[in-house]
Amino acid sequence: MEIVNITGLNRDSEVIIGELLDNVENYLPKTQVFIITDEKVKAYHGDKFPRFPTYSVEPGEGSKSLEVVGELYYWLLEMGADRKSFILGIGGGVVSDLTGFVASTFMRGVDFGFVPTSLLAQIDASVGGKNGLNISGYKNIVGTFNQPKFVICDINLLATLPKEEYLNGFAEIVKHTLIADMKMFEFIEKNINALKIFNPTLLEQLVTHSAKIKAKIVQADEFEKGERKKLNLGHTWGHAVEKETGMSHGKSVSIGLEFAARFSVKKELLERRDYMRLMNILRELNLPICIKVNPKRIFEALIKDKKKDGDSIDFILMRGIGDVIVERMTLDKIKEFAERG
Ligand SMILES: NC(=O)c1ccc[n+]([C@@H]2O[C@H](COP(=O)([O-])OP(=O)(O)OC[C@H]3O[C@@H](n4cnc5c(N)ncnc54)[C@H](O)[C@@H]3O)[C@@H](O)[C@H]2O)c1
Ligand SMILES: [Zn+2]
Repeated sequence: MEIVNITGLNRDSEVIIGELLDNVENYLPKTQVFIITDEKVKAYHGDKFPRFPTYSVEPGEGSKSLEVVGELYYWLLEMGADRKSFILGIGGGVVSDLTGFVASTFMRGVDFGFVPTSLLAQIDASVGGKNGLNISGYKNIVGTFNQPKFVICDINLLATLPKEEYLNGFAEIVKHTLIADMKMFEFIEKNINALKIFNPTLLEQLVTHSAKIKAKIVQADEFEKGERKKLNLGHTWGHAVEKETGMSHGKSVSIGLEFAARFSVKKELLERRDYMRLMNILRELNLPICIKVNPKRIFEALIKDKKKDGDSIDFILMRGIGDVIVERMTLDKIKEFAERG
């Protein structure tokens, strides 16, 4: 078991890797607890949930909406929740984003914790205290910064994850290595075949490492003024792909990583050899690196990105494996590269 601490401005957070869902009660306060989950996660793992009132949302991105948030507020009120109540989110990134948002706004904020059940949620979505909701398909357009009290990463829960969702999580793991850890990138390259199937020992190492990378960056810049922007590698283009095509987050990020890497080669920041190594890993993991959609349509979605500031955007470029930079770029530059390469 490994514990990673994040000291936040308003509250601290503890990411506990290798702990079991069955033991979550040891981390809960002695107040009223309410659980938010999704129907699929409940069907697979509900027997291990502690016995508290539970609300299950429909699985999928559609639940990250103000409508579902409204339903949850009503439910909490009906169940007698108050300012001392604690909310526990058990599920993938959709559940953690939703739980974080509801807990941060209900009665101006109640304490909350997560048991992330997808690989993506364990290494990314549940770590760092950012949560967001989608509005008309635009990703994470409203949200808050607020740290969960704890994040319990039970590796065994990942055994029931569909293969596709499992590989989706790898897009974010690869992203973390590209931002800050060449050695981990090499570890993935070496163990790629073993990693394609569920292997709790290797996974625990990867989850620990990846969560540490994210925690370190969050610790340095909780409110995304500088360093944390690096975590958006592959996401500017990736979110636009997600919006335009409805592809999963992980797959869209994979397309976004290819775009950012190719752009970095064009700008002579990244060696072509390293671009090819990245393409190899993504291909091996069955993650897409191109799509048959007119880049003009993706660009249209991109210009509505929330991180846009006037007619320029912070774009994350690669300077090598394990080294990225934030570059202020005009939208015209991105458009030109997207359309002409
Ligand atoms: N807040 C952040 O910092 C942050 C970071 C990255 C991603 N995200 C968000 O996370 C979301 C993506 O997360 P996700 O990929 O976990 O999506 P998800 O929550 O939709 O889960 C993917 C699917 O896997 C199922 N599932 C989850 N755990 C399972 C298990 N153990 N066994 C079987 N099925 C299981 C879910 O029911 C769902 O159908 C996106 O909305 C993204 O915006 C947020
Ligand atoms: Zn992401």
